[in-house]
Amino acid sequence: MITRTDIGSIVDNYDPKELAIGTLGSHSALNIFKGAREEGFRTVCICKEKDRIVYEKFPLVDKLLIVEDFSELLNNSLQEKLRQLNVVLIPHGSFTAYLSTEQLTESLYVPMFGNRELLKWEANRDSQAEWLRKAGLRLPKTFKNPEEINGLTIAKLPGAKGGRGYFLASSPEAFDKKFKEMHNRGLLTKEDRSRIHLQEYALGVTVYPHYFSSLVYNDVELLGVDRRYESAVDAIGRIPANEQLEIQVNPTYTVVGNIPLTLRESLLPKLIRMGEAVNKKARELAPPGIIGPFCLETVITDDLEIYTFEISARIVAGTNVGIGTSPYAYLKYGENMYMGRRIAKEIREALETEQLGKILA
Ligand SMILES: Nc1ncnc2c1ncn2[C@@H]1O[C@H](COP(=O)(O)OP(=O)(O)OP(=O)(O)O)[C@@H](O)[C@H]1O
Ligand SMILES: [Mg+2]
Repeated sequence: MITRTDIGSIVDNYDPKELAIGTLGSHSALNIFKGAREEGFRTVCICKEKDRIVYEKFPLVDKLLIVEDFSELLNNSLQEKLRQLNVVLIPHGSFTAYLSTEQLTESLYVPMFGNRELLKWEANRDSQAEWLRKAGLRLPKTFKNPEEINGLTIAKLPGAKGGRGYFLASSPEAFDKKFKEMHNRGLLTKEDRSRIHLQEYALGVTVYPHYFSSLVYNDVELLGVDRRYESAVDAIGRIPANEQLEIQVNPTYTVVGNIPLTLRESLLPKLIRMGEAVNKKARELAPPGIIGPFCLETVITDDLEIYTFEISARIVAGTNVGIGTSPYAYLKYGENMYMGRRIAKEIREALETEQLGKILA
């Protein structure tokens, strides 16, 4: 386990005037680099050849490091290079998609803006649910096995990122039928049956609030809200019911983009308290709690109940809708504040007040 002391001694050797912000070239990298630049940091992008066009077209990167695969982040030579460049890494969704929790906590000797200890709590649906429940949030019910299904249920496959291959069933019989179909099509193995996570389907609209936990100000800020634009589920309503039945369309949830949302104001008290409660619980589970951005994935029903089905304790791609500004960032900071910049501002202020040790891990 890489300790905060290990990271502290790396940071001690950094040149504070040359501090750079780095991340993997994907996900929310443009957001992060733009924010870093606006707060006066140099930027370092670890990038695949096929994606370099993005980081050359948008002039935000000072140093481009080309890799074959993001797992090269585990190589000593690349880590050495990053430390030489005084890089603070900003973790985003591609870090956890390409590297395991173990690799991130045991083998990445570069300072990160984020709490590595929390990764364990995020790593699987059960510990995540425990964290969220302990914080007092309402979660969709889970069913231990298909026989228990009573009501519309979403079946989530282990490791199936981005909702690919998820399916819905409203009874044990319907589940068996769908499972068999998918098994016959080679999409699922027999062993998958017991590994599928069954969750009550919350009927409502998806809402993803973005928060920032500041250790410098000891505060949790609500900076934006988005919803996802998911294929095929957001396309189903565009064809008539007859054709839906004819082609037996199954909703899938491949994220294509994000759409900014403004919420009715009466939802804000609850969402703000939820963010604070989640962070308070995180502080108990893994001190000092969440460092920087986090996001809840929620469904809000027609009686305005808020169901939370997931948390990401890092910047989410949905914050890209706020590049420039979002209503909530604007209300707090005025113009030109967004998650990438908020991160850089926290690092800048910690640097100036000699609190870097507090926010880097
Ligand atoms: N309990 C639920 N009720 C209603 N809709 C749900 C529920 N759980 C998930 N969904 C829908 O399915 C989509 C994918 O679910 P989920 O976020 O759990 O998948 P994931 O594999 O974690 O994907 P990602 O890593 O991209 O967040 C959600 O964006 C949402 O539209
Ligand atoms: Mg999710």
